[in-house]
Amino acid sequence: MPMTTSLTTLLEIAHPILLAPMDVVAGSRLVAAVSRAGGFGILGGGYGERAWLEQETAKLAELRAPFGIGFITWSLAKRPELLDIALGVKPSAIMLSFGDPAPFALKIKSAGARLICQVQDEAMARQALDAGADVLIAQGTEAGGHGASRTTVDLVPAIVDLVAGRVPVAAAGGIA
Ligand SMILES: Cc1cc2nc3c(=O)[nH]c(=O)nc-3n(C[C@H](O)[C@H](O)[C@H](O)COP(=O)(O)O)c2cc1C
Repeated sequence: MPMTTSLTTLLEIAHPILLAPMDVVAGSRLVAAVSRAGGFGILGGGYGERAWLEQETAKLAELRAPFGIGFITWSLAKRPELLDIALGVKPSAIMLSFGDPAPFALKIKSAGARLICQVQDEAMARQALDAGADVLIAQGTEAGGHGASRTTVDLVPAIVDLVAGRVPVAAAGGIA
């Protein structure tokens, strides 16, 4: 049954489900499958393998469904030119995780892409909102130990309260 939320409206998708940009696991094939099924596929740009990113983004260029591309922020800071490769295939959104998104926000938004930020506490949520994030992902410890220190059930309502309806909040970690 389709579920319309602020997230589905913003990302122009049928179902409020986002594919995590799992470094190399979330390749173009999985992204296409999720996006064609009405979710939001996000390519795993991960730690910045340029050849892999070029190969996978090229395959996404013809995808006729909304999709995004994710990066690990501190890794992107070392190779900022990778953002140009990602934006070159016109993703609907760029997702940044683990680091300050501010240095990249203007370029992302100027290119017409939404900014999705994965956060692990309130301070990171505020930082992401200040940078102009369009979507927050509240990531709990259940997310495979990826940088979080609070559980999903604790963190998600705290971030939802902090955001107070300004942007959609998605939950990440241990949900099945
Ligand atoms: C194999 C694997 C690789 C991941 N790699 C990344 C990554 O490169 N960048 C990132 O933002 N998140 C990465 N994540 C974390 C996801 O974005 C997300 O927070 C997590 O998968 C949510 O937990 P769940 O799988 O239990 O729903 C990865 C997760 C997994 C399982």
